[in-house]
Amino acid sequence: MDTLQAIFTRRSVRTFSERQISSEDIHTILRAGMSGPTCVNARQWSFIVVTAREKLSQMAKANGKPADPLKNAAMGILVCGDLNRAFPPAPDYWVVDGAIAAQNMTLAARALGIGSVWLGTWPQMDRVERQRELFGLPEDIVPHSILAFGYPAEADDEERDLFEADRVHYAEW
Ligand SMILES: Cc1cc2nc3c(=O)[nH]c(=O)nc-3n(C[C@H](O)[C@H](O)[C@H](O)COP(=O)(O)O)c2cc1C
Repeated sequence: MDTLQAIFTRRSVRTFSERQISSEDIHTILRAGMSGPTCVNARQWSFIVVTAREKLSQMAKANGKPADPLKNAAMGILVCGDLNRAFPPAPDYWVVDGAIAAQNMTLAARALGIGSVWLGTWPQMDRVERQRELFGLPEDIVPHSILAFGYPAEADDEERDLFEADRVHYAEW
């Protein structure tokens, strides 16, 4: 699958089959996450990979009802910001680095035939604190987002065209 096909056929998948994800594919997904641009190349992230059913359920509970897809996912990845690596003049860039890593992972998964859904965590601080507690994270490691992954229960490979002409301005507003 080429890059544009992966982008145009990606969609959030919330219902997964029982099929597990190979360790090779997990590695590829993480490698994609670590391949994005980062502010001053500081790579201000860390990832926690979870495949145990019980822990996936605990992650879902900690994020509330919108994170229910984790309960039937083959894998969850908690994307964390690493504030130790933040760029002092503009430390908030860790949020951008985390988002780019997460999106790269969803697209890599799509290219491998694996579905995913992004489960928002930061800046909803109740979720952030519950994930922090669940994983025993140090203060400078901040939960950013969770991605649930698995093979889609129903294949859907249709391309979508979400282009909106009125969102684009040329040369001036
Ligand atoms: C920051 C962010 C937070 C999101 N949080 C959730 C969530 O908690 N639960 C969920 O089911 N989907 C969540 N989503 C997925 C969006 O609902 C989804 O991307 C959007 O509806 C567009 O659908 P699509 O991904 O199929 O294009 C989130 C997406 C983003 C980018």
